[in-house]
Amino acid sequence: MTLILAHRGYAAEYPENTLLAFKEAEKAGAEGLEFDVQMTKDVELVVIHDEMVDRTTDGTGLVKDYNLKELRKLDARFKFEALPKKEPIPTLDEVLEWLSGTGMVCNIELKNSIIPYEGMEEKVINMVRAYGLSDRIIISSFNHYSIVQSYLLAPEIEIAPLLSEGLYMPWIYAQSIKAKGFHPHWRAAPDHIVRASLESGIEVRPYTVNKEIELERLFKVNCSAIITDDPAKAKRIRGKI
Ligand code: G3P
Ligand code: CA
Repeated sequence: MTLILAHRGYAAEYPENTLLAFKEAEKAGAEGLEFDVQMTKDVELVVIHDEMVDRTTDGTGLVKDYNLKELRKLDARFKFEALPKKEPIPTLDEVLEWLSGTGMVCNIELKNSIIPYEGMEEKVINMVRAYGLSDRIIISSFNHYSIVQSYLLAPEIEIAPLLSEGLYMPWIYAQSIKAKGFHPHWRAAPDHIVRASLESGIEVRPYTVNKEIELERLFKVNCSAIITDDPAKAKRIRGKI
């Protein structure tokens, strides 16, 4: 069965990358989560997509210029002001603590292509190990040097390169860096690429699949997982296939 991974949580209906969005994704029936990690000035791991806080919170500036205590005062509700209470930017620690009480799998994206947060890989790995979650986590990044480094530090944790563009034979590339799968943009995951990858034993988990026609196609071709903003919609469509 193709797993449904909720992109930044249930981001279609709730503020992205918040505990609320993660909990709602679980309620909607997602088997897993995808979220993004950055690092604060005092070297704490936090769950937020952009390098800057401006788009998703009521603050301004770079995540890396905030200490955790200051960052936690921001409200991550973004355009969901109608929600009754403020949502803080979660720490990786609190997300993993919550996750360990669920059966969900989880794709942690290291957001370190623009700002190369030093030591991020090791800090993430130590936390994953501390919660005993190594077999439920996939570490991905557009920074492929970083995921190879993650693999070298923790070969027991799965890695997956993010591919925004199509590669001729992405499964060969994945194998060459010891990845058991790769995460392509859905446009870079035509049926023949998905089939050839699966036949080679390499998993394919396209992002960010929100259109009904693409969800249907990727379920039909038996992708390992899809990453979507709308897990409820994806579940409905998967149920009809
Ligand atoms: O992990 C897949 C996807 O999240 C990568 O793009 O920009 O949404 O983090 P982005
Ligand atoms: Ca992401």
